[in-house]
Amino acid sequence: MPSCCRSTARWSCARPSFFALNFAVLCSLAGLVAVGFCLAAPAVAQSMQPIVLNRVTAAHALPDGLELHSGAAVVRITALRDDLLRVRIGATGTLPEDASWAVLAASRTATVAVKPESTAHTVGFRTGKLHLAVDRATMALTVTDNDGHIIVQTPAEHPIEYHGTSFRFYARSPEEEHYFGLGDKPGPLDRRNEAFTNWNTDSYGWQESTDPIYKSIPYFLTYRNGICGGLFLDNTWRTSFDFDKELRDVYSFGADNGPLDLYILYGPSPKAVVEQWAWLTGTTPLPPMWTLGFQQSRYSYYPESEVRKIASELRSYRIPADAIYLDIDYQFKYRPFTVDPERFPRFTQMIHDLLAEHIRTVLITDLHIARVPNAGYKPYDEGLAGDHFVHNPDGSVFTGPVWPGPAVFPDFTQKSSRDWWGTLYADFVHDGVAGFWNDMNEPSVFGVASKTMPDDVQHRIDEPGFAKRTANHLEIHNVFGMENSRGTFEGVRRLDPDVRPFVLTRASYAGGQRYAATWTGDNSSTWNHLRQTVPQLANLGLSGFALAGADVGGFAGSPQPELLTRWLEIAAFQPIDRDHTSMGTNPQEPWADGTTQDLDLRRHFIETRYRLMPYLYSVAEEMSRTGLPILRPLFLEFPDASHDRHPLDFNNGSEFLLGPDLLIAPSPYPDLLDNYQAVLPPVGWYDFWTGAPVVADDQQRMRVGNDNLPDEDLQITLHPTIDKLPVFVRGGSILPMQPLVQSTMIKPVGPLTLRVYPPNSPVGALRRQESCAGSVYLDDGISYAYQKGDFLRVEFTCKRTPQGLTVHIGPHQGSFQPWWTQYRVEVYGANGPVHAASATNGPVTAAYDSDHHRVVAFLSDDGKGVDLTLTGGLR
Ligand code: NOJ
Repeated sequence: MPSCCRSTARWSCARPSFFALNFAVLCSLAGLVAVGFCLAAPAVAQSMQPIVLNRVTAAHALPDGLELHSGAAVVRITALRDDLLRVRIGATGTLPEDASWAVLAASRTATVAVKPESTAHTVGFRTGKLHLAVDRATMALTVTDNDGHIIVQTPAEHPIEYHGTSFRFYARSPEEEHYFGLGDKPGPLDRRNEAFTNWNTDSYGWQESTDPIYKSIPYFLTYRNGICGGLFLDNTWRTSFDFDKELRDVYSFGADNGPLDLYILYGPSPKAVVEQWAWLTGTTPLPPMWTLGFQQSRYSYYPESEVRKIASELRSYRIPADAIYLDIDYQFKYRPFTVDPERFPRFTQMIHDLLAEHIRTVLITDLHIARVPNAGYKPYDEGLAGDHFVHNPDGSVFTGPVWPGPAVFPDFTQKSSRDWWGTLYADFVHDGVAGFWNDMNEPSVFGVASKTMPDDVQHRIDEPGFAKRTANHLEIHNVFGMENSRGTFEGVRRLDPDVRPFVLTRASYAGGQRYAATWTGDNSSTWNHLRQTVPQLANLGLSGFALAGADVGGFAGSPQPELLTRWLEIAAFQPIDRDHTSMGTNPQEPWADGTTQDLDLRRHFIETRYRLMPYLYSVAEEMSRTGLPILRPLFLEFPDASHDRHPLDFNNGSEFLLGPDLLIAPSPYPDLLDNYQAVLPPVGWYDFWTGAPVVADDQQRMRVGNDNLPDEDLQITLHPTIDKLPVFVRGGSILPMQPLVQSTMIKPVGPLTLRVYPPNSPVGALRRQESCAGSVYLDDGISYAYQKGDFLRVEFTCKRTPQGLTVHIGPHQGSFQPWWTQYRVEVYGANGPVHAASATNGPVTAAYDSDHHRVVAFLSDDGKGVDLTLTGGLR
């Protein structure tokens, strides 16, 4: 069929007119090689003809890439780095505007020189790491690495197509390729055999198959035999992704409108791809430490006495906690930036009183401003006077109902409006409010089937880096929430420049991690939703949103006591640990509903999180530098672990890592009492709770009943009981821990514990280790002083020796003075008392603790570093 006449049924908009379709059919029936004829067709038909990029009609080299033509279409492929390509297409000859809400300007405009490389059949180039070849006859594009691994390959039979304003890009999807990312879309960890749409949607009560939900992150990782790549379609319109669902062995993506602006990332390791994504779109900034503590929320705590009661119950039940959230009912008539004086007569005093209890307050501040003229409501009056609200096509202000009734919406695509929005936080920041919660920012609008603004409302783009113009809602919808949270983050930062802001957003777009943490919206109090938290948070982390949580206990409905207990156990190892529930549900605080055992367990797991704070905060600091997520899927740390380099998403991805060293293995079906198998990558593991080295089932290396495991992987059978959550520590790691505190605002008293887990790789392990390593990072937890050197970093190593083990504790780096003056070193894997112990900075004794398979020694810390040598007693 002549390409210009090719028709397809897959386009959701801009379908060809009846005339155009007939014309296309005619072309196809005539079997015309009739490019000229079709192009010469009547204007009405021509405008609706698909544009198919299926041959190269002209090519010329650029210093950093290549420009191709396919008929009228122009394709520019450039290298931003040796491992990162960008493809931009102008279907009608003009490249789309070179601007982005997601990509950092410095990265977007980076270039690297390429070496042109063409043959009789292909045109392309080579970078230090990648090779691009475009077939002249079909325009099929192949990106390979230096070893010939295919990273992306478009099939000749499925060229890039445009139908009106919409387009679609196809690529081969070999059976062994797996896909991850796309934010918090529900469903399994691996996106293969799934299809998705990006359109930020208020999705109360979403379920495993619901799509879309709140965020649009049109970015995914490809993972094939241990080689990882990434593709980012930087397009804010409604986009869709299909992974081998519609077409066998093909994945595809496209948009209703807007640019085909595609970034191709190459690892080869998954970590390298994650770090590139951070280079492209930024990292989550270092959060205030308190955000890693336990947070208590509900819709809504009011009046003031209820908030005070919850705070005092947190303390009287000895539940460590750092924050209480106030949902919409603290406001006067649901008007953002107000406080109901009857419900909260001493609001500012309450904030201070909670702080005295070491509890910070987070306030919801939705973006819908109540339309109440002449009522002395500053956000409305000022916003109207400054022309900050979104317009209808006729220039009037768009109004839609949300919580406060008729409401208007700031136009966050104007920098000046974002700056104005930021000023609205002044009073709350002054009052000592610590964090802000941007909800409903898809944006959600009540009473309409679309649940959002009409497609044709006008957003005025007035933004550095963008041409000043008006865009309709279809283009801006998916970035509206991100720009809302950006306005909040930047505004709060301006109001208190020395304090790290904390913003929690529900809707966002790629790159939104620069401004806000996120959560997975209105989940439900069911076992399946507990299960969903792991793949959702893992995929969010891979998509840049490394600081994320799911409502603990579930939002919709009330959890049975055992579910709440289990949820609090698992969430203690997830990045944000916030207990939140809907209006009208039963109390869901850790002391609610359950036996004394439930309360003790819930407390115990939250306490464990606090004891792990030095590790958790160090992992968060790594995240802020590199983009590596706090919660990690196994393949991120162990890309080579399975013998066919399958991504280790056994048990439907229910296992996860907290940072690099802790592996949490809840049951894949947490409501069932059945035994289940956990699979541990082949590095040797210790039980976090008992300290015992993990031994595989039957003392042997096992297979899981499929071919994906090498002999060295450990399979262990676990028996689920409510009082146990299997947590394992990687052999070869050193885990910093601290004495228990009730809040991160309280200085721990006692030594910093270093749990040393000597390498214990099983025989034949892929990566046999002889040494171990770890580090701790600390600062004041709240300010930006760390950027001027007021931080502390200490690196630790251990090494097996023929006689035993040495532990090296490095000198203090940075000027921050820690709360400890002593280290408590716990060396695991001990099977008896050591024969001798010595330290480089004074006398030391090492006690054997058989219950925990460890020896324990105390070393003073004068900041200069110290070595501990143990002889005998260790495995
Ligand atoms: C919807 C949010 O998702 C939820 O967390 C919040 O409690 C309600 N809005 C009320 O503000």
